[in-house]
Amino acid sequence: MSRAQRLDWVSRPATSLHGDVVVPGDKSVSHRSMMLSAIAEGTSHIRGFLEGEDTRATAAVLAQLGVSIVAPSAGERIVRGVGLHGLRGSDQPLDCGNAGTGMRLLAGLLAGQSFDSTLIGDESLSKRPMRRVTDPLARMDAQIDTPDGLPPLQVHGGRSLHGIRYELPVASAQVKSALLLAGLYAEGSTEVIEPHPTRDYTERMLSAFGWPIEFSPGYAKLEGGHCLRATDVVVPADFSSAAFFLVAASIVPDSVLRLPGVGLNPRRTGLLEALRLMGANITVENQGESGGEAIGDLVVRYAPLHGVELPEALAPDMIDEFPVLFIAAAAAQGRTVMRGAAELRVKESDRITTMAAGMRTLGVRIEETPDGAIIDGGAIDAGAVDSYGDHRIAMSFAVAGLLARGEVMIRDCANVATSFPGFMGLANSCGFALR
Ligand code: S3P
Repeated sequence: MSRAQRLDWVSRPATSLHGDVVVPGDKSVSHRSMMLSAIAEGTSHIRGFLEGEDTRATAAVLAQLGVSIVAPSAGERIVRGVGLHGLRGSDQPLDCGNAGTGMRLLAGLLAGQSFDSTLIGDESLSKRPMRRVTDPLARMDAQIDTPDGLPPLQVHGGRSLHGIRYELPVASAQVKSALLLAGLYAEGSTEVIEPHPTRDYTERMLSAFGWPIEFSPGYAKLEGGHCLRATDVVVPADFSSAAFFLVAASIVPDSVLRLPGVGLNPRRTGLLEALRLMGANITVENQGESGGEAIGDLVVRYAPLHGVELPEALAPDMIDEFPVLFIAAAAAQGRTVMRGAAELRVKESDRITTMAAGMRTLGVRIEETPDGAIIDGGAIDAGAVDSYGDHRIAMSFAVAGLLARGEVMIRDCANVATSFPGFMGLANSCGFALR
């Protein structure tokens, strides 16, 4: 992102938060719905598609590869699938923007094509590790060149892939999904075993698109040689976007917020448990199912939080929520200890270091550990922090500003649009004072 596009925010203290907050569609589900619709037979209709830069980048890549995608209205896409072997190569690089999910899943999808592709990304994505996908894909006989294990990825086409049994060294839904997508094109079976179960959207959606797949928490197996049938997809509201409001209303006295239709896949909702352990008052109403995914309305009321030692096993189920959980810990009484989240160091920024740097600037007592942090709750001072171009860091400090003793200035917030376009307007509609 160039300097000219930099966008700074100021978040001021708020008195209370109230209202209904409809957060945008789930990022993980949106990426996958676009990819599977693109290589299915027939026309799929997606509703609730996230209009974020990340997911639009994935749609643009697939359009560049010859897929017709129409957007009749915001959040709606009609995708005319080209079938498993109908994508056409592009002599231009395929730009994944800021999206690790887009690049890693597309690496798997493109590994089995007849043509070569080059996947590129922005400055942040260009620093993120790719060997975690290219190494196991190479074991399937894919050929992907990656300088120093980083993007760009040169994906060579015309390879005959074969299935493997792979035990993931780290819990990663992106790696699992890349292998399953490559497995569609492989001879024999592709089997993935995880050290801790991760989000299973790829497995569920493959099944919804008619591909035979065996899966259970921490395990997935499929065989090549079938076909995907077009399906209509309803994308639930993104729990990770709801998370900012769950923490905000928990820490600002007299607040009550209702977040309707939020995806409640158990591999995503670790933050609910973590906040409840800290004393939060969050209830789930109107529980149901949409497109095979659990959904519900979350109702969050202010409650005084207290510090806890959070169970390490919760970490993978709330991996994207740690930045805002750090803010909850800063607002809680006493000490919070978080472990098991070393993966935070290879997200859009090193989220342990970037959060710790900003929180220290705001006078919070925080000690970084290799896989988490120890935070002593107390007052949050005014000050200026940097998001390092990381959307979740920016939104987390916007939440911190609600309780601070003065203004919190947050630098470099443009990338909020990657996952949560409209965050500022929605936040202000329920009582934030964000400019
Ligand atoms: C995602 C998986 C997670 C998560 C990311 C989205 C996905 O990454 O942090 O925001 O959609 O599969 P890892 O697979 O690297 O844990």
